[in-house]
Amino acid sequence: MDPLRVLFISAEAVPFVKVGGLADVAGSLPKALRALQEAPDVRLAVPLYGQINRKGLDLELVADFTIPHDYGPMPTRVYLTQVDDLPVYLMEGPPINPRDPIYSHDARENGAKFTFFSLAALELPRYIDWQPHVLHAHDWHTAPAVYCVASNRKGEDDYYDQLATLLTVHNLPFLGVGAGPSMGAFGLEAASGSPLPDWAEHMPLPLGLLTADHINAVSPGYAAEMLTPEFSSNLHDFLASRKDTLSGILNGLDVERWDPAIDAALHKNFDEDSLNDRTENKLSLQSELSFGANTRIPLLAIISRMDHQKGIDIALQGLKQIADKPWRAVILGTGAPHIEDEARQLSRDFPDKVRVIVDFDRALARRIYAGSDALLIPSRYEPCGLTQMIAMRYGSVPIARATGGLKDTIIDHDADEVEGNGFLFDEATPEALVDAIGRAMDVFHDQRRWRAIQRHGMKRDFSWGKSAGEYYNLYKSLVERKK
Ligand code: GLC
Repeated sequence: MDPLRVLFISAEAVPFVKVGGLADVAGSLPKALRALQEAPDVRLAVPLYGQINRKGLDLELVADFTIPHDYGPMPTRVYLTQVDDLPVYLMEGPPINPRDPIYSHDARENGAKFTFFSLAALELPRYIDWQPHVLHAHDWHTAPAVYCVASNRKGEDDYYDQLATLLTVHNLPFLGVGAGPSMGAFGLEAASGSPLPDWAEHMPLPLGLLTADHINAVSPGYAAEMLTPEFSSNLHDFLASRKDTLSGILNGLDVERWDPAIDAALHKNFDEDSLNDRTENKLSLQSELSFGANTRIPLLAIISRMDHQKGIDIALQGLKQIADKPWRAVILGTGAPHIEDEARQLSRDFPDKVRVIVDFDRALARRIYAGSDALLIPSRYEPCGLTQMIAMRYGSVPIARATGGLKDTIIDHDADEVEGNGFLFDEATPEALVDAIGRAMDVFHDQRRWRAIQRHGMKRDFSWGKSAGEYYNLYKSLVERKK
């Protein structure tokens, strides 16, 4: 039998371009799918942004065509490159301006760029003689492709009828506000009289959610939360109507890229049987951060995009409340300027205790995962979250809000001493976080118990294998349903 063919389209993918966790998933899931025993023919399409360094890539021009637009046909050029055995199509055209940021503050600029990319990626298979069975889109940026397929079904062109669509939600609140006019200019009209609320009928993500053959969230926990008023971005009534075609599949981790036993960025490699070697990483991290050497004082860490979702403000306030206790903290990340400033202020207020590095420093991040004692993750919502998995793999114990994928991957130590691999708290408040830090610190002082928690995290299998299998079964069932 011919392998199942899947066109995977994403606004970001490692190793080409990364802003958030979407890039990790788009970089690793297609590879994991191709590694399955019954391997589908997955191919990935991403925009060829100016930020992507073309020089290091072996690019072959494979297609050159136009996309209809109100102002006249828009030319697009498509280049093929390979990442291991994964074919990747990099798409170029006027709305993907090499001088623009990947995500702009200008909604129209984003709208034009991602609508163009979505439609061009959807057209591409015709020019490379490769009819996919499944179109797998991600978040609002590529939802226009899903909507376009649905809008063209049962027409003259049976290309769209042969294509099943799956839309994966990595971050529901990003609906693609302001992209409606751009979609219109590319011939994608707003919906009307649909089960969507009126205000959402011209927004890309809601339109994708309305018309995808199946929707999935990046964890079962978030799939359930999406149906509730607190997490649904006001779409719960509509999403309830899609309940039977909405599920959750937990993201995996690229366990080869994230392995403390071979990670070249670390001072000393280690695994769960050599936790003494991990201590050397703590010592060397302390000296890198100009803290005096001390293995007894817990070193807390935050590695995160600094935005509202991540609840960094909650952590900063919480740490202030326990300033009289013995701990140190290192905070690494970039994002909203006012949160960056608040973090810097904390390090000025507590110069002996707090280090803040406003930067996107991948190697330092790895050393912090390997040298810190606990990672604080006070997210207001977290569709899946990768840092908790990386932290556990590197022996840093997560102290996290019990939401979405965090709740699905972390087992609270006090609730389950046999398997507990972290600490969870319910409310998104400094007080709740402080309480969880307190519970963690009680255990920290008993190093034997602490190491047991570290080992539970390090031993857990976070690899993609199981989840890639679930995606594959989902693809197959969608194709079956078409027949
Ligand atoms: C988004 C979500 C994060 C998830 C990632 C990958 O960045 O905020 O929770 O892990 O997408 O799916």
